[in-house]
Amino acid sequence: MKFHIETLGCQMNEHDSEKMYHLLRISGFEPADIAADADIVIVNTCSIRKKAEEKFYSLMGRLRWMKEKKGTILGVTGCIAQMEKEAIQKRLPFIDFSLGPSNIHKIGQAIETASRHKRFFDFSENGCTSLSFIKPESAKAEIKAYTTIMKGCNNFCSYCIVPYVRGREASRHSADILDEVRSRASAGVKEVTLLGQNVNSYNKGQNDMTFPELLAAINGIEGIERIRFVTSHPKDLSAELIDCFGKLEKLCEQIHLPFQAGSDRILNLMNRKYTIEEYKEKVGRLRERCADIAITSDCIVGFPGEDDAAFEASMNLVSDIHFDGLFSFIYSPRKHTAASTLPGTVPRGAATERLKRLQEAQKAITLRKHKAMEGRVTEVLVEGPSKNSSEEVMGRTRTNKIVNFVGKQEMVGTLVNVEITRGYANSLKGELRGAEQG
Ligand code: 5AD
Ligand code: SF4
Repeated sequence: MKFHIETLGCQMNEHDSEKMYHLLRISGFEPADIAADADIVIVNTCSIRKKAEEKFYSLMGRLRWMKEKKGTILGVTGCIAQMEKEAIQKRLPFIDFSLGPSNIHKIGQAIETASRHKRFFDFSENGCTSLSFIKPESAKAEIKAYTTIMKGCNNFCSYCIVPYVRGREASRHSADILDEVRSRASAGVKEVTLLGQNVNSYNKGQNDMTFPELLAAINGIEGIERIRFVTSHPKDLSAELIDCFGKLEKLCEQIHLPFQAGSDRILNLMNRKYTIEEYKEKVGRLRERCADIAITSDCIVGFPGEDDAAFEASMNLVSDIHFDGLFSFIYSPRKHTAASTLPGTVPRGAATERLKRLQEAQKAITLRKHKAMEGRVTEVLVEGPSKNSSEEVMGRTRTNKIVNFVGKQEMVGTLVNVEITRGYANSLKGELRGAEQG
């Protein structure tokens, strides 16, 4: 039987899909490139903003006719599944199974039950069970790997659905994580990204390694050349973690540090528990340790109560910090969250205008930063063919920037030195320099 997984949403979801992919492969199922060729279609959902939810319901409308025509087994997993729970049976009566993000390890059981024409639903909380016993496998070449180190979130930022759909924080045992990274390194993986909603809370209150200790242990694993992690909450970014940059040679000079809003009043309404002064101070310390560190961030515009002055504070922060990249979103009210009942709704038109201004400002900054790299020689991990031309390959710098350059497919998986010749808004162009490093 053939299966296909449609992934909507974030990196965490991509990784959950990889885990299901692996479980289905080792259970004897074959992957299909497109849903129309599959006997089983799984939609792994995201509920972080309304847009993602709308995309999901319109996709389900399209998949419904496929099921009616050829009897495809249809399952829904992830955050919308968890949020809707049993209600999803009423709204989408044609689906065969549904699993919350903590229950995706039961994918085999769900399919087996569905093939007996019985429906299967599971939304129970189970600590780290689903993280620990699935060794993920990517459909792509094994150069980069993602490893979940903790799940859930205890922060309850007032706009965010994550604590409701992914549950409380739980950390995987360090020995388990290190085993996984070692086995991926021996399979040829060069770069590992540690995933968690808030990696700085890793093992908080537990008698196991701290996050900086875990990074140091991974730094010692042979074969691994690069380490990254996402995501960090500014309030939990510790001095010990900041010290890891520039000290652990495999830890890449890059951090994603969402600020969300430039006004202390809005940050307080968001329940973020830091001030802009504190945020800037941490960025200053990161740059002191590691002058070239690339910093990316997330920002929400149109949060309830965001007046012109508050929005200008976000604009000011963007021009003060000079982020390498920024993901910006219009506030989307989510069921259950504290912010959904706040007064001071910002009209859609004003929020769209603000988003446009913010994105334009950031685009100019990113372009300027990329142009400043012209003439520099930098280490690139080659990931695969370039989208631009069959003569070119694509890779990333340690600062996580995309570089396209003329090169051979045999270079995929190696570290090479590339001189940056052109900086664009979303990528860099380069020329190969010197010998391969590994
Ligand atoms: N509305 C808009 N953006 C949101 N994010 C999280 N919840 C919401 C919401 N309700 C953004 C935050 C977070 C990123 C992953 O998504 O900026 O960092
Ligand atoms: Fe959501 Fe805040 Fe937790 Fe991030 S830290 S997942 S924004 S509640």
